[in-house]
Amino acid sequence: MENLLEIMSKQLGEAFAGAGYEASYGSVRTSDRPDLCEYQCNGAMAAAKQYHKAPFLIAEEVAAKCGENAFFTAEAVKPGFLNLNVKPSCLASYIGSMAENGEALIPQLEHPGKLIIDYGGPNVAKPLHVGHLRAAVIGESIKRIARAVGNEVLGDIHLGDWGLQIGLVITELKKRQPDLPYFLEGEAEYPEEAPFTVTELEEIYPAASAKSKVDESYREEALLATHELQEGRPGYRALWKKILEVSVADLKRNYERLDVHFDLWKSESDAQPYIPGVIEDLKAKGLARVDQGALVVDVAEETDKKEMPPCIILKSDGASLYSTTDIATIVERVKLFDPDEMIYVVDKRQGMHFEQVFRVVRLARMVKPEMKLVFAGFGTMNGKDGKPFKTRDGGVMRLESLLNEIEEEMAVKIADNKNVRAEDAAKTAETVALAAVKYGDLSNQAAKDYVFDTEKFTSFEGNTGPYILYTLVRIKSILEKAAEEDRTGGGILEPLSADEKALMLSLTDFGKTVMDAYEELAPHKICAYIYKLSNDFNRFYHGTRILGEEDAARRRSYLTLLTLVKAVLEKAIDLLGFSAPEHM
Ligand code: ARG
Repeated sequence: MENLLEIMSKQLGEAFAGAGYEASYGSVRTSDRPDLCEYQCNGAMAAAKQYHKAPFLIAEEVAAKCGENAFFTAEAVKPGFLNLNVKPSCLASYIGSMAENGEALIPQLEHPGKLIIDYGGPNVAKPLHVGHLRAAVIGESIKRIARAVGNEVLGDIHLGDWGLQIGLVITELKKRQPDLPYFLEGEAEYPEEAPFTVTELEEIYPAASAKSKVDESYREEALLATHELQEGRPGYRALWKKILEVSVADLKRNYERLDVHFDLWKSESDAQPYIPGVIEDLKAKGLARVDQGALVVDVAEETDKKEMPPCIILKSDGASLYSTTDIATIVERVKLFDPDEMIYVVDKRQGMHFEQVFRVVRLARMVKPEMKLVFAGFGTMNGKDGKPFKTRDGGVMRLESLLNEIEEEMAVKIADNKNVRAEDAAKTAETVALAAVKYGDLSNQAAKDYVFDTEKFTSFEGNTGPYILYTLVRIKSILEKAAEEDRTGGGILEPLSADEKALMLSLTDFGKTVMDAYEELAPHKICAYIYKLSNDFNRFYHGTRILGEEDAARRRSYLTLLTLVKAVLEKAIDLLGFSAPEHM
């Protein structure tokens, strides 16, 4: 559906043209002074300069040209603003067609593309910790938003499965169970079953990591094991597969719980076959040079304001690095999927790394020039002390523990809630807890650090996930009751109260909000929107008798309005990555 602002800008543009001025001056925006008017246009002020005429005179001429058919009434005010208010009848018909359009509430891109979103990025063998929460939550939302506006989108988890963490696990396991066939030099028979459970694995890695920090020879051993794995030592490869198997099964369970779904479960190791070609290519194009034994590509540009060190492609011992893998992954993705754009949702501290990688692939023309490479860096999730979020005793908080904590908190609140049946309590607590966590995160601008505040996030009041769900559930139960009484919706009538009009005006902003959120990769805009919409709804609800309304046509209009608010809220929370319970 055409956006209300666009409709009004077009009409006001015609009025400008009718009065002899350029139509482009008719651009309409939301009012800076909601106490005076709903929308405004400052075009007469700008036109005054071009036409050497007093802005108020222009505004008056334009206002007079706004005909019967315009969506709004226009008033010229000094020094030359046009104050606009939407005509209630026009608003009612606009809302009526929104209500009929259902699925078409979200505008579609004229030229959609094929996107790969790289998000999640967990490392196998290491437990998921709270640091991975943001990558999952923000990435999932961006993926859903990009898809909703018409793109073809592939979400790729890009598992970290090729680094030192694997060498550490191999080394530690060798100390504990030296007789396993995985440690024999050549090929051997390997058991079907992994030699560890995920719980054991999650204990093995931190133990190994701690040892490597104090014991130099242990660390060397782990580095060697990593190298041998990468060179293809059969026993290590077999063991690596087991680590992957056990980890991935556990990761799937965790992401499922977060309602986060990847289309591709690709990993760093998948890109390895592309590395020799990448090196050849960089050398052949004269981009790579040797610097103290290492192979590097200079990526600095004259216009750089910050220092941009060369991108290291191979270390002096010939080992590849994180950058090499990311370059090779881009080459792989181009070959397999030929995307128009890649978006990386990764901790913003990796910004320099991605800038280097992007520059290398552009210099080497490994991607078509029009391909977009976007780094959507996110900030740190802090505790109330302003430092990165930790457990009470200062350790790294596992993602699972965090979710359990919030669910328990929620279960206590739900237990007091008479609307929730005992047998639904656990599921409801889970649903609301997830909304609390995701909304708490997404309502902040992604690039900024934020404070994870359990008390605030789980509150049913204020700018929180539970408040949004509460509002949605309230609407659902009114509609449910109406259905029981066999009352159905009907055509939308002109709004009667200021609150009803405000609610309708908020509804008209939905499509534009989603498009803005897509263009700016900004899920927080959707949060801000549904918070306002919920407030507008609750204000209307408190001042209006809905089911008790005696005029049947009016009551039917309310029911249709409620159905639309529900549809918009449901679509919006789906874009954010959570859902609502039936009762609350
Ligand atoms: N595994 C990495 C980490 O934990 C994140 C991966 C991000 N994506 C990428 N293509 N590098 O830091």
